Amino acid sequence: MMAITQAELEKEKLTALKQLKAVDNEDDLNSWRVACLGRSSAVTQAFSSLGSLSKEERPAMGKAANEVRKALEAALAERQEVLREASLQRSLQSEHLDVTLPGRPILHGRLHPLTQVLRRIYRIFGDMGFQIYRSPEVETDDNNFTYLNMPPYHPARDMWDTFYTSDEGVLLRTHTSPGQIRVMRERAPEDIRVILPGATARYEQLTARSEIEFVQVELLVVGKGVTFSELKGTLLDFAKLTFGEEARTRLRPSHFPFTEPSAEMDVECFVCGGKGCGVCKGTGWLEILGCGMVHPVVLKYGGYDPAVYSGFAAGMGIDRSTLMRYRIDDIRHFRNNDIRFLEQF
Ligand code: DAH
Repeated sequence: MMAITQAELEKEKLTALKQLKAVDNEDDLNSWRVACLGRSSAVTQAFSSLGSLSKEERPAMGKAANEVRKALEAALAERQEVLREASLQRSLQSEHLDVTLPGRPILHGRLHPLTQVLRRIYRIFGDMGFQIYRSPEVETDDNNFTYLNMPPYHPARDMWDTFYTSDEGVLLRTHTSPGQIRVMRERAPEDIRVILPGATARYEQLTARSEIEFVQVELLVVGKGVTFSELKGTLLDFAKLTFGEEARTRLRPSHFPFTEPSAEMDVECFVCGGKGCGVCKGTGWLEILGCGMVHPVVLKYGGYDPAVYSGFAAGMGIDRSTLMRYRIDDIRHFRNNDIRFLEQF
């Protein structure tokens, strides 16, 4: 192998540095490294020639080779950095990420208006010491009617148009009142203070004001010495907490087979303030619930001795009062699950 001279080495260095400036990718950079710093490069040749040089020539050649290698390595590192920076810029640009844009809004779920009203009712009665008792939506004819003082063929059954199932004596409950029988039979002879919320169904014409499925909340208190004035006080407190301290209410005598005496509670129409309007059909009053003292026959079916125990009960529909409260024009919106309707609550 021909020994390389210092002048040649210097020339090789300049050529290499010039080539490096044109390198613009990782692959070419690697080829450059092999050619200019690898085994057959000029620098390596210079180092291998050291052994065959005279004692006088050797130090100068060694120094020159070292300097060339350092210069080439430094230039390589610098070029590598430039290429890395350029590739980073390219990928940032291709991602089109504008960090100054505002964030995308997150869609929140929300509670159905009926659920919101129900929860308010739970809180009010919860504060008065009532427990929530869940009872089935599919009921026996006995619980729904007979044990509520309506034996088979009793004409009062006609007040509730009923969905019967193909099973004899099994129906969709027409009101939450059959739950009264279930709590009493489970708890007798303990005191009872519960609300019974849930879905009910009636075989009726679907209209803007009446649904075949709707929600009721039932109230039941049983104990020794429970009185009508306690019923009245409980319902008045409930009305004030629901409709406001100034809301006027009235109790009207009424009739239900499972209570005696029975009453209905009206609240002054909150749409017209009692003057009379379309919502209250010109009367100035809105009926909100039925109530009364639990009938002795019902107490007996529940396992309580009516000579010792008494109780009061009430039942209210949630859908129609929610309609009025939010001025909703059609009860069918509640179960259509149309997002445009639900989003408003
Ligand atoms: N269950 C009755 C209905 O659906 C409402 C009712 C009236 C419930 C009087 C009661 C009550 O507990 O005492 O129409």
